[in-house]
Amino acid sequence: MGPIDALHLDAPGLDELRAEVQAAVGRYAAAARTTPEFRPGQDTVPVAGRVLDAPDLHALVDASLDGWLTEGRFAERFTAGLRAAIGRDDALLVGSGSQANLLAIFALTSPLLEAPLRPGDEVITPAVGFATTVTPIYQAGLRPVYVDVEADTLNPTTEAVAAAIGPRTRAIVAAHCLGNPFDGPAWAELAAAHDLLLVEDCCDALGSRIGGAPVGTFGVTSTYSFYPAHHMTTGEGGAVGVDDPAWRRVLRSLREWGRDCWCPPGVNDACGRRFEGRFGELPEGYDHKYVFSQLGFNMKMTDLQAALGTTQLAKLDAFGAARRANFARLDAALRPLEDRLVLPRALPGADPSWFGYPFSLREGGAAERRELQRFLLERRIDSRLVLGGNLTRQPALLGLDHRIAGPLPHADRITEAAIWVGVAPGLTPAMLDWIAESITAFLS
Ligand SMILES: Cc1ncc(COP(=O)(O)O)c(C=O)c1O
Repeated sequence: MGPIDALHLDAPGLDELRAEVQAAVGRYAAAARTTPEFRPGQDTVPVAGRVLDAPDLHALVDASLDGWLTEGRFAERFTAGLRAAIGRDDALLVGSGSQANLLAIFALTSPLLEAPLRPGDEVITPAVGFATTVTPIYQAGLRPVYVDVEADTLNPTTEAVAAAIGPRTRAIVAAHCLGNPFDGPAWAELAAAHDLLLVEDCCDALGSRIGGAPVGTFGVTSTYSFYPAHHMTTGEGGAVGVDDPAWRRVLRSLREWGRDCWCPPGVNDACGRRFEGRFGELPEGYDHKYVFSQLGFNMKMTDLQAALGTTQLAKLDAFGAARRANFARLDAALRPLEDRLVLPRALPGADPSWFGYPFSLREGGAAERRELQRFLLERRIDSRLVLGGNLTRQPALLGLDHRIAGPLPHADRITEAAIWVGVAPGLTPAMLDWIAESITAFLS
C-alpha cells in the first residue's frame, strides 16, 4: 500500500472551487424542483417526511467540504438559532430525541446536583406515549408512576398529575402528545408547589405554544427530536434545552463522557486551570480533560447534521404554519363525523403545531381500527397509532417496577381505537382532501 494521500482542506484556491461545486448543487436542486400532480389512490400519502430545499443541500455540501465533521461552525450557528427558537438560554445538540430524553432523565440523578433523585424515587408520566420518553426512567433506576390521559387532548389533566403525587414523587416527565401542549403553566405551578422537577419531552411539539410561551419553557429541561418525521430535521438528531447554569453543566458533562472539563471540541484550557486541580484520588494537576466526575455518555452531533439544522431551522415557522393549516383543513372536513369519532382538542390558550391528526373510533375496537388502517392503505394512505398506546401494556415494560395511579380507561381506549394521519408540510391540499374523503367513506 502506498502513502496516504491526505487532503489539506485549507489549501489556497479551494474557495473558488467550492463556489463551483455549490453552483452545480444549485443546478441539481433546480432540477429536483418539480411538482408532480397527486393521483388519489395511486400515489402514497405519507404521515410525514423530510422537506428539503436548495439551502439544505448547499449547507450539507458546505459542511462536507469543510471536512471538520465534529461540532464546529455549523453547530455553533445551529445552537444559537435553536436557543432563540425554543426560548431557552442554551440548547445542547445530541444524536436523537431519545438521547435527549436519556440525558435529561439521567441528569435528574446526577451526583453533581444538590439533591439528585435516588434509586426508587418516583417520576409521574403519562400512560400514553413513546417508548423512549419512559425507558430512561427505568434505566436510571427510578420508578415511573403512570397517569391516564384525556381521550381528546391525549395528555393527562393537571388534576390527574396532582392526584398521582406520593411521598417519593420527585419529578414529572411528559411529552406534549403529538404536538398538543399539556397545561405547562399549571404543571409548572404544581411542580413548584411540590418541589418536583418537570422534564418536557417536546420531540413531537417544536413550535407549539401554550399560555403565550413555547412548550419546553415550563420545566427544568426540555427535549427535541430532529428525525425526518418531526417538525424539522437533521436526519438523526435532537437537542436538550436548559436555562439554569448548574443544570447546563450537568447535562453538558453527561453528553460528553461525564467529564469535568467543559472545553468545546478542539479547544484547550477554557477554564484556565487545566493542570491545577485535585480530583478524587488522582495525582495533583491531573489534566482536567481526563477527569470524569459522573458516569456519562457520548451523545454529540456532527457538524454535517448541524449544517442541515441551520437551514431547516430557518423554515421552522413556515413548517409550523403548514402543519396548522393542514390540521385545520382535515379538522373542518372531519368535524361532521364527530358522532362517530373522538376528534382532537387543544386546551384553551394552546396553539399546537400538530405532529399529526389523531382521532379514535367511538364504536368498535382494535379489529375495526385495523380495518380502517387497511382500508386507508388500500387507498395508499398511511396512518400511525398513538405511539405505544398504554405503555404499561408494552412487552418491554411488563413486569418492570412501576406504579399506576388510578385506572387507565382512556389510555386503554386509545390503545384499541385511535390512529393518526399526516399533517406534515409535504402533504398537499389534494392529499388531505383524499384522506378526509377516505375516512368518511369508511364510516358510511
Ligand atoms: C414523544 C417522543 N419522544 C421521543 C422520541 C424519540 O425521538 P428520536 O426518534 O429522535 O429518538 C419520539 C419519536 O418519535 C417521540 O415521539
